[in-house]
Amino acid sequence: MIKDSHIVLGITGSIAAYKGADLASKLTQGGAIVDVVMTKAACELIRPMTFKALTNRPIHTDMWDVAHEGISHIELAKAADAVLIAPASADFIAKLAYGLADDILSATVLATRSPIVIAPAMNVNMYENSITQENIQKLKDRGFIFIEPAEGHLACGDVGRGKLADVEDIIGEMHKIIGRSGPMAGKKVVVTAGGTREPIDSVRFISNLSSGKMGYAIAEAARDQGANVVLVTSSQIKCPAGIEPVHVQTALEMRDAVHKACKDADAIIMAAAVADYHLETPFKNKIKKKSATLDLNLVRTPDIIAEVKGDLVKIGFAAESEDINKNAKAKLKKKGLDLIVANDVTQDAWGFGSEYNKVTLIDPEGNVNEYPVMTKRKVADLILDWLTSSPKWVK
Ligand code: PMT
Repeated sequence: MIKDSHIVLGITGSIAAYKGADLASKLTQGGAIVDVVMTKAACELIRPMTFKALTNRPIHTDMWDVAHEGISHIELAKAADAVLIAPASADFIAKLAYGLADDILSATVLATRSPIVIAPAMNVNMYENSITQENIQKLKDRGFIFIEPAEGHLACGDVGRGKLADVEDIIGEMHKIIGRSGPMAGKKVVVTAGGTREPIDSVRFISNLSSGKMGYAIAEAARDQGANVVLVTSSQIKCPAGIEPVHVQTALEMRDAVHKACKDADAIIMAAAVADYHLETPFKNKIKKKSATLDLNLVRTPDIIAEVKGDLVKIGFAAESEDINKNAKAKLKKKGLDLIVANDVTQDAWGFGSEYNKVTLIDPEGNVNEYPVMTKRKVADLILDWLTSSPKWVK
């Protein structure tokens, strides 16, 4: 959704202004049209030429530029799908809180009707100062969206909250904000990811090779189309911005989290590799190697997706190494799914742990669509294309 969207990126006088270059570059690479607007203080810290080279667009630094034909802050304000100010200094936040418009960036903010996103970056004392906090609250009350700064070592040597949020997190938020008018807006989607970990004793567990990448790609794609996404995950990968994570370890924990999240969901997409067996009562302490063999009495885990009831769309995966379509069709029927995504897990180049997957989409009407190897993000987009045009979703 960020592709072809128009983002005004405001850079203000914070030492994190250099990170604005990374943001400008990544948003441009994502297909957005990025118009950079810089305050005078920002131009002291980083040159406009850097942004011009990265965005291939003119850079706006002066409201009184006679060379410009129209009224640039009004044009920018109207064209913007969103205005992002990153980094936003304490001074600039104060200016916005009082509605000042004496430079091209503050004038653009005052003139726009698009969402305004602020990512503050400043010294910890400046950030925690009650004046700054009051200004932030004032803006939040007016509908400005804030991306909280992170804690860490600050340029001044202090340690505390004030670091510009992670660039990837800011981009994730922008995807979510731009996607709010997408085809999945107003819908709730539950996605599962990762291999569950079933404890054997206090230090050992049974698991599998699932990294969580497939599920995360689906969660991101759904967020980008405007869905409210709950990601039930046993993976160690950091949850992308704009997605609600529910961290679990075992199949039973995943089952509880899925059932809770599905109560008011429109779809469940289970990409997680759930253990089929677990120890009913894991050993309390580390097992001692006393005998030559060890018998573990494993019992079946509940079939999570089969148990999900209600009017939501149910999409499962089938990780198969032989008779792929035949086995996937049997699972589709047994689990009462609306779609099964069969993956061939016989090759290292795709499937478990890889950035790629090779899938076949099979529905209960007998439609079988086989696709070549593609990135997991492309597979995610395919699944969501199917979902958003399915009769149960459209209803
Ligand atoms: O995580 P990655 O490294 O990116 O790898 C992606 C993947 C290969 C793990 C993924 O694409 C995939 O195939 N996930 C499903 C793997 C699996 O467990 O398949 P299954 O055939 O055992 O289960 C079928 C379906 O039932 C799955 O949707 C599974 O989540 C679900 N299930 C399984 C067992 C169980 N007790 N409850 C379930 O709900």
